[in-house]
Amino acid sequence: MSESLARRAAALDAADELADARKLFTLDETVYLDGNSLGALPAHVPERVADVVNRQWGQLRIRSWTEGDWWTAPERIGDRISPLVGAAPGQIVVGDSTSVNVFKAVVGAVRLVDDPARTDVLVDATTFPTDGYIASSAARMTGRRIVPVDPAGLPSALGPATAVVLLNHVDYRSGRLHDLPGLTAAIHDAGALAVWDLCHSAGAMPVGLDAHGVDLAVGCTYKYLNGGPGSPAYLYVAERHQASFDSPLPGWTSHADPFAMTPGYEAASGSTRGRVGTPDILSMLALEAALDVWDGVSIEAVRAKSLALTDFFLECVEAYALAGRVVSLTPVDHASRGSQVALRCGDAPRVMEELIARGVVGDLRRPDVLRFGFTPLYVGFADTERAARVLAEVLSV
Ligand SMILES: Cc1ncc(COP(=O)(O)O)c(C=O)c1O
Repeated sequence: MSESLARRAAALDAADELADARKLFTLDETVYLDGNSLGALPAHVPERVADVVNRQWGQLRIRSWTEGDWWTAPERIGDRISPLVGAAPGQIVVGDSTSVNVFKAVVGAVRLVDDPARTDVLVDATTFPTDGYIASSAARMTGRRIVPVDPAGLPSALGPATAVVLLNHVDYRSGRLHDLPGLTAAIHDAGALAVWDLCHSAGAMPVGLDAHGVDLAVGCTYKYLNGGPGSPAYLYVAERHQASFDSPLPGWTSHADPFAMTPGYEAASGSTRGRVGTPDILSMLALEAALDVWDGVSIEAVRAKSLALTDFFLECVEAYALAGRVVSLTPVDHASRGSQVALRCGDAPRVMEELIARGVVGDLRRPDVLRFGFTPLYVGFADTERAARVLAEVLSV
């Protein structure tokens, strides 16, 4: 059986239109299935970062802010991310962490709604913790009530008291993909605003922010966008909201005339309004370089390969592993699946440790979930078959 699956993997790799993208990354013999936590290093990034450090900082010094491209990097790099998430230019600004951008987005959205009768901020009850913590604080600060809601039950929880809803496009633990178009429409029907966290979807599938009328969105760049550890996050404010967007962190770099250094705040227009303080240039320009790997890549092709990879992994696990040894939490239907496979397993900590020792890197979500992220730009079908085979060996010990 393993021979026929290995043969199929080879044929799938040979027919893969994205196969060449792997050469753009620094990888080794390890099967790296943790790109949903930290994307791999695009091979050309160290040289570009060395230029930023040695020439732009070392030689040009302060001149790089103006003569170089430092000052405008947050908007410029935002515009590089825009096509990957279906946004027209001028709506995304890069900077700060996802956590900080969740704060800006939720408070900003409550202020946009500006209706005291809308008392509730609904938050995905299964969310990555930081979103929940920050949304709760944002709700308290704006005099609203936080209401945790399972995304599946969201439509019935919406009502005239709903101000804002914060949801994850893909659940970080199970890999479940939520219905962004349908839920955004339901939120709008209830008269509320939708804020989406794209950490686990941007770079793995089309998002369609503009097409689906999303109000605000945030996302990180160190997973499928390969920006590097702690690379800056981004904030999307739909153009129709920009003029009224009232940031809770109106730092000097979001001022209409930052170098006037006036005591009174006057917000800049456009996506610049989402900026706070001095941009973190080293990691921002590392991200900008990393985004080169997307040149000429179709996000639809990425999605098609992602689904083929996760289907194939599940098929191989089923074929190789002892029945009942792991239980898949990954939705079977494609419409509800992100780019990862999550397997529940009684001895998950031991299994993941052993997998990593044998060259298959996924990660663990305590207490009992094995997570495998499939990054279509550098994971192939032979990698996928090998990962399932090694997993079955580890499970049989
Ligand atoms: C859905 C989601 N939101 C937010 C974060 C983290 O945000 P930050 O970059 O601020 O640590 C993560 C991190 O993995 C995440 O998965």
